[in-house]
Amino acid sequence: MWRKLFSNVNQYKKYAILAPLFVVLEVVCEVLIPKIMTYIIDDGVAKGNINAVLINGGIMVILAGLSLLLGLLSARFAAVASMGFGANLRENMFNKVQNFSFKNVDKFSTGSLITRFTTDVSFVQQAFMMSIRIAFRAPVMLILSIVMIFTINIKIAIAFVVLVPLVWGLMIFAMKFVVPLFEKLFKKFDALNTKVQENLTGIRVVKTFVRENHESASFRKASLDLQDAQIKAEKLLVYANPLMNFVTYAITITVVWIGGIQIMQATMSAGDISGIIAYIGQLLMALVMVAMVFVNLFMSRASARRISEIIDETPDISDKDADPSVKVEDSNIIFDKVSFKYKEAAENPVLSDISFEVKKGEVLGIVGGTGSGKSSLVQLIPRLYDASQGNVLVGGRNVKEFKIETLREAVGMVLQNNTLFSGTIEENLRWGNPNATQEELEEACKIASAHDFIVSFPNGYKSDISQGGVNVSGGQKQRICIARALLKKPKVLILDDSTSAVDSATEAEIREGIKASMKETTLIVIAQRIASVIDADKIIVLDDGKINGIGTHKELLQNNNIYKEIYNSQLGGVR
Ligand SMILES: Nc1ncnc2c1ncn2[C@@H]1O[C@H](COP(=O)(O)OP(=O)(O)O)[C@@H](O)[C@H]1O
Ligand SMILES: [Mg+2]
Repeated sequence: MWRKLFSNVNQYKKYAILAPLFVVLEVVCEVLIPKIMTYIIDDGVAKGNINAVLINGGIMVILAGLSLLLGLLSARFAAVASMGFGANLRENMFNKVQNFSFKNVDKFSTGSLITRFTTDVSFVQQAFMMSIRIAFRAPVMLILSIVMIFTINIKIAIAFVVLVPLVWGLMIFAMKFVVPLFEKLFKKFDALNTKVQENLTGIRVVKTFVRENHESASFRKASLDLQDAQIKAEKLLVYANPLMNFVTYAITITVVWIGGIQIMQATMSAGDISGIIAYIGQLLMALVMVAMVFVNLFMSRASARRISEIIDETPDISDKDADPSVKVEDSNIIFDKVSFKYKEAAENPVLSDISFEVKKGEVLGIVGGTGSGKSSLVQLIPRLYDASQGNVLVGGRNVKEFKIETLREAVGMVLQNNTLFSGTIEENLRWGNPNATQEELEEACKIASAHDFIVSFPNGYKSDISQGGVNVSGGQKQRICIARALLKKPKVLILDDSTSAVDSATEAEIREGIKASMKETTLIVIAQRIASVIDADKIIVLDDGKINGIGTHKELLQNNNIYKEIYNSQLGGVR
C-alpha cells in the first residue's frame, strides 16, 4: 500500500533521494563530534597540550558547521519532496473522483471524501517526510553510535547491543494499544466533516425549519466525540516522553557508575566516559526517533488505507473495450427486458422487466409517483448507471459499445437535481458547448425561455452565478440548465422533471420551442403534470419499477387506471 502511494512522488523523486543521502552524511558528522571531544579531553586537557585542543577544536567546529549545512539541505529536500508528494496525491485523487461513476460516488459520503483529501493527505505527507528523513537518520545514528562506543569500550558496547532490542520490543508492544485508538479517531473525523458539510450546504433548509439549536447540539456531539477520541489517543502518547526520559537517565547513571569505577581502576580515561555519555544521548535519541517514525507510520496507515481506497476504486462504468470510431448514428432508443438495482445486495430491483422502444424524433413521456423509478430509468440511457439485466440500446447499439464520451455527447440530460457552478451564466452555458457563438447561446436560451430574464439582469449573460446557483430562482435555474443541455444539440434529450418550478404557460412554450427546433431529436420528458406529456407520441406509466401502461394519452385515458387517476386529479375538472 505504501509503496503504491509513494509512487506518487514522481517528479520529486530526485529530492526524495537527496534528502536521506544528506541526512546520512549529517549523522556521520554528528557522530564524529563526541569522538573528537574525547581527544580534546584526553590528549589536550589531561596532558596540558594546548595545540591538541586547538586542532581538535577546529575540526569539531568544521564538523558542526558541516552537519548544520547538510541538515538544512536535507530538511529542505525532504520538505520539497513531501509537499510535492502531497500535491500529486491530491491531484491523483481528484482525477480519480472525476472518473467515478454515480455508483462509485454513492459509496463514499462527501464528508469522508473531504477528510481523505485534507486530514488524511497531511498525515500521509507527514509520514513520507518522516520516512525520508528520520527513518534514515535514526537507524544510522543508532548503529554508528554503537560502533563508536565499541571503539571506546567493548563491555559497555555489548551491554547496549543487548539493551537496545529490549527497549525496542517494549515500544512496539505499546504501539499495539495506540493504533486502534487512532483508527477510531478518523471515523470521528469523518462524522464531524459530514456534519459540517451537510449543514453548510443545507444551511437554508436548517433555517427554514428553525433547526439551528438542534443542529448545533448534534454538531456539538460530533465534536465532543472527536475530542474524546483524541484525548484517549493522546493520553497514551503522553506517557511516552517521561518514560523515555526515565530510561535515558537510568542508563546514564548506570554508565557513569560503571565508568567511574573503571576510571578509578585506571582502565578507562575521563575522555572516554564523556564520549560514551554523549553517544548514549545520541543512541537514545535515535531510539526515540525510531519510535516516532513507527508511531507516525502506524497512525498514518489508516490514512494511507483511506487514500488507497479512493485511488484503487475502479470506476464501475468503463468503456475500455469500446471502439472510439463507433458513433451514435441514430436516436432511437430500445429498452430490452431491463432490470436495475442500485446495489447488488438489494432485495428488490428498482426497475424490473422494462421493455419499450422510442423512435427517432419521437417524444416519450414518463409519469408515475415519486420513487416509482422514473429518474433511475432515464439514467440508464447515458450510462450514469448500468442496467443489472437486459440491454439498453441507443441508435440500434448497446450503450456499452460506445465510448462514454461519445454516448454522453449524444445524450443530453437535465438532471432532476441540477447544479449550476460558480461563474457567469455564459460560462455555465458553455458547459454544453465551449465553442458556441453568442448567437447560439441566445438561441438556446430563447428556446428554454431563459433569454428574457437573463438580459433583464444588469450584466446579462455575464451575470455571476454564485455557488450552487442560489442567486437565481428555482425556475430560472431550471431554464438555464435546459439551455445548457440544448447547446449540446444532442440526439437524445432527457428532461427529468426539469420544468417543475416553471409555470405551465412558460413550460408549454419551452416544449413547443424544443420540438420545433430539434425535429430529429428524440425527447424524453419526465413530468408531474399530465399537461407536459399530453402530446407525446408515447407515454409510459411507471409504478413501483414496472411498466403499468404504455400508449398515447388517449389510449391510456381509456385503459389505464393510474393514468386516469392522475389525469382526473389534475385536469379532469378543467378540460
Ligand atoms: N442513488 C441511489 N441509491 C440507492 N437507491 C436509490 C438511489 N436513487 C434512488 N434510489 C431509490 O430508487 C427508487 C426509485 O427512485 P427514482 O428513480 O429517483 O424515482 P422517481 O424519479 O420516480 O421519483 C426509490 O425507491 C429510491 O429510494
Ligand atoms: Mg426522479
